[in-house]
Amino acid sequence: MNKPLPNSIEARDVAYHLHSYTDARKHEEAGPLIVEKGEGIYVEDNNGKRYIEGMAGLWSVALGFGEQRLIDAATRQMQKLPYYHTFTHKGHGPSAELAEKLVNMAPVPMSKAYFTNSGSEANDTAIKLIWYRSNALGQPERKKIISRVKGYHGVTLAAASLTGLPNNHRSFDLPIEGVLHTTCPHYRTMKKEGESEQDFAKRCAVDLEELILKEGPETIAAFFAEPVMGAGGVIVPPDGYWEAVQPVLKKYDILFVADEVICGFGRTGNMFGTETYNLQPDIMTLSKQLSSSYMPVSALLVNEKVYGPVADESHKIGVWGHGYTGSGHPVGAAVALENLKIIEERDLISHVKEISPQFMKRLKQLGEQDMAVEARGIGLIGAVEFAHEKAPDVGAVGGRINRAMQERGLISRNMGDALAFCPPLIISEAQVNEMFDIAEAAVADVAKDLG
Ligand SMILES: Cc1ncc(COP(=O)(O)O)c(C=O)c1O
Repeated sequence: MNKPLPNSIEARDVAYHLHSYTDARKHEEAGPLIVEKGEGIYVEDNNGKRYIEGMAGLWSVALGFGEQRLIDAATRQMQKLPYYHTFTHKGHGPSAELAEKLVNMAPVPMSKAYFTNSGSEANDTAIKLIWYRSNALGQPERKKIISRVKGYHGVTLAAASLTGLPNNHRSFDLPIEGVLHTTCPHYRTMKKEGESEQDFAKRCAVDLEELILKEGPETIAAFFAEPVMGAGGVIVPPDGYWEAVQPVLKKYDILFVADEVICGFGRTGNMFGTETYNLQPDIMTLSKQLSSSYMPVSALLVNEKVYGPVADESHKIGVWGHGYTGSGHPVGAAVALENLKIIEERDLISHVKEISPQFMKRLKQLGEQDMAVEARGIGLIGAVEFAHEKAPDVGAVGGRINRAMQERGLISRNMGDALAFCPPLIISEAQVNEMFDIAEAAVADVAKDLG
């Protein structure tokens, strides 16, 4: 990117805006890419250049950009009741309806929905519910939480602690006490010499059990995990992983929180990752594709095992002393309801199942190109990891490929040297090919540059 012109939107952005997940000093030099509009799987910058949004924004714009029905749903709700809250026995139609819808959609028995505004808040709230429940049960020592190295659960203080990535901890004095991380289930990088995928999966469960025993099972409250890891590099669990891990949780009566923030609403080829992997969570956290990110809305579903003691404790104290001004926001809830209606009406789950084989075929082909080390994915989420001896620093080759893709009109995201692909669920087969044609050309550009 060239240095921004004085007084341009780019220059004003540099002057006034601290960006998420950005090197602030580098941003002062390079400036932003200003995205102005979007339609379907494409977005356009303020110079009229079009890009395929290969990440669906942040793994989230399921219906693509410019879905008129979502805009209409928001407008109607804005006109009728633009805001009301859900504190102190108050409510409104959209939040009650969305709660009913989500509890009924859940693939395992769930009792109640609770609303938040981001994935981080949903996971933070899950921790608070879990701690509150342990106190309610007279088990105040049962407070520790286990998540996984490379798991991603957000950035608020507790959620960032769950996240198992160094950049979310470094210089933030995190993780907080009582959050522990177990083995990352990435077979290629974590396997031992000669270990089969199934044996590796079993070892992950043994590692988890050893951690539980070392800490004392009576002190462990919950295990948080994404069905498929997203921001950690799209790590698809090895064969037999969930079959080995879940019995360990059951054995020690540890709650299981499935973070469905990315996997939920069709991403893995079923409505929930929980179905894809036959999971039995006690809590599910939901966001992103819940509203196609047209509005910030997130939710937790909790089963009776969680709700019961929490409800009793709130009755004893006189209040469940928690809530956000935006919890169950009527416009967010109305957009989410319409979004879910469209996903069902258009049978997007079958669409994902139909498109996924071509997506996976092209992902694997990209994984056979120069510099590629591994391709992994499921449904419509995948990543290809690259390496090159002339760019040995972590993220060096990934960053180059990411820039080359952007130059050619494809927005991806490099997580280290893994390039992610997570397009809107509405993508067509021709568009899948268009996306990977650009990706292949960009990889060839970088391979040529590096020699
Ligand atoms: C699996 C998962 N959980 C939680 C979060 C945090 O969500 P948010 O950025 O809305 O706080 C994310 C965000 O990418 C995520 O991928």
